[in-house]
Amino acid sequence: MHEFNYRKNILYCEDIAVPDIVKEHGTPFYLYSLKTVLGHLERIKEAFSELDPLICFSMKSNSNLTLCRALVSSGAGLDIVSGGELYKALKVGCPPERIVYASVGKTVSEIRQAINEEILLFNVESVPELIMIDSAAKKLKRKVDVAIRVNPDVTPETHDYITTGSGEKKFGIDFKTVEEIFDNSNKYSHVSLKGLHVHIGSQITDPSPFSEALVKVLEFIDKSGIEPEWLNIGGGFGIDYGPERAAEAADIAAAIVPLLRDRPYKIILEPGRFIMGNSGILVTKVIYVKTNPSGKKFAIVDAGMNDLLRPSLYRAYHDIVPVSQRDASSDIYDIVGPICESGDYLGLKRELQELIPGECLAVMGAGAYGFTMASNYNSRPKPAEIVVIGGQARVARRAETHRDLIRGEKIILP
Ligand code: LLP
Repeated sequence: MHEFNYRKNILYCEDIAVPDIVKEHGTPFYLYSLKTVLGHLERIKEAFSELDPLICFSMKSNSNLTLCRALVSSGAGLDIVSGGELYKALKVGCPPERIVYASVGKTVSEIRQAINEEILLFNVESVPELIMIDSAAKKLKRKVDVAIRVNPDVTPETHDYITTGSGEKKFGIDFKTVEEIFDNSNKYSHVSLKGLHVHIGSQITDPSPFSEALVKVLEFIDKSGIEPEWLNIGGGFGIDYGPERAAEAADIAAAIVPLLRDRPYKIILEPGRFIMGNSGILVTKVIYVKTNPSGKKFAIVDAGMNDLLRPSLYRAYHDIVPVSQRDASSDIYDIVGPICESGDYLGLKRELQELIPGECLAVMGAGAYGFTMASNYNSRPKPAEIVVIGGQARVARRAETHRDLIRGEKIILP
C-alpha cells in the first residue's frame, strides 16, 4: 500500500503531481507520503492488536524529524542504536519510556546518556556490555532495566549483510550464555533483567523465520524458567521492491500471534522498513543518455550511490519509473549516477520509455535506508527531504549546500 500513483500518466504523491515538486525544488530529492507512513503504522497495530504491542519504530531506517514526530504523536516509540539517535528521538518528543536501545557497540558515554534519560530498555548484546551498563548505573546511583538480545541461530533468506540472527554474526548472545546471565543476575546489582529481545534480520519476506526464531526463544524461556516481563520480537518485515511480493503484516502476525497470545509478556515490535520503505521515493533527473559502441545505453542521472546506496551495497532492486509517462517506444538502460565508481548505479538493464535528458525518474521504495545511508561522497551535497502533508509538499529538510560540505572543517596549515 502506498500513495504514489499515476493519474493521466503523471506520477502523483497523494494529490500532488511530482513534476510540480520538481519545478519548485529541483532534483534530486526524497519525497515521502505522510499518509502512507501513518497507514503502515496502523496496519502493524491492527495486525498485532491482540498482543497490544509497543511499536518502537526503528529510526535507523529513517530518522527524518518530521516523520519520526508524526509516528511518535500516533503512539509509536522508537528503537535507537546510537547517542545521535537518542538525541533525535528526544528532539521529536518521544517519551523516554517508549525508547529501546540496541547496538553491539554502545560506548560508556552513550550508556550514561541513555541512563540519564531513563529510557525504557537497553537491548544488551554481550556480557562485557552488561558489565559496562551495570558499572555505569552504579556510578550514577541508578538501577537500569535491560533486555538481553538472544541470538537464536536462525538464518532467514535475505542479503547476508542484513541477516543478524545466525550464530556467526556479531549480534545478540547465545542461549547458554543468556541462561548464565539470568542465573547470575545478582552479579549485576544495578541492572534489572526485565526481558528478552530477538531480531533475526531485515527484508524478510516470508513469515516462517519469524515463527522459527520465536519458537526457539519460547522453548528456551520454558526450559530455563526465565520470566521476562518484556519480549521484544524485533523488526525485519519485508516490503515489495519489485515484482516479488513480501508477506503482509497480517500474514506475519498470523504466524506470531498464536505463539504469544497465552503468554503474559508485554510485547515490543521494532519495524523500520515496513513503515518507511514504500512511503518514500527518490526523484532524479536524467542528465545525459550515453550509448557505448556495443549499443549499451546508460541513463546518467543526478542522483548516485551517495544519495541511495542500497543498489551499490546490496545489489538491491528498486523499481524505477518515469515521473511523466510518454507515448514512446522503449529501450533498455542502466540507470547510473555521476559518482566515479563503476558500482554507482540505481538500476541495471531496465526497460523504460525512450529517455530524454531533462526528464525525471522515480526510484521507488526508497523511504527506508535511503536518506539515512546517504553520504557526501564526491563532495555531493545531500538531497532535500520533502513530505506531502495536509495536501501540500513541504521541505522537511532542505538540500545541503556547498557551505554544508565544509561545515566543521578548517585548513590548519600555517
Ligand atoms: N531492530 C533491530 C535490532 C535492527 O537491527 C533492525 C535493523 C531493525 C529493528 C529494523 O529492521 P527493519 O524492520 O527495518 O527490517 N541497511 C539495510 C538494512 C539494515 C537493517 C539493520 N537492522 C538495507 O538497506 O536493507
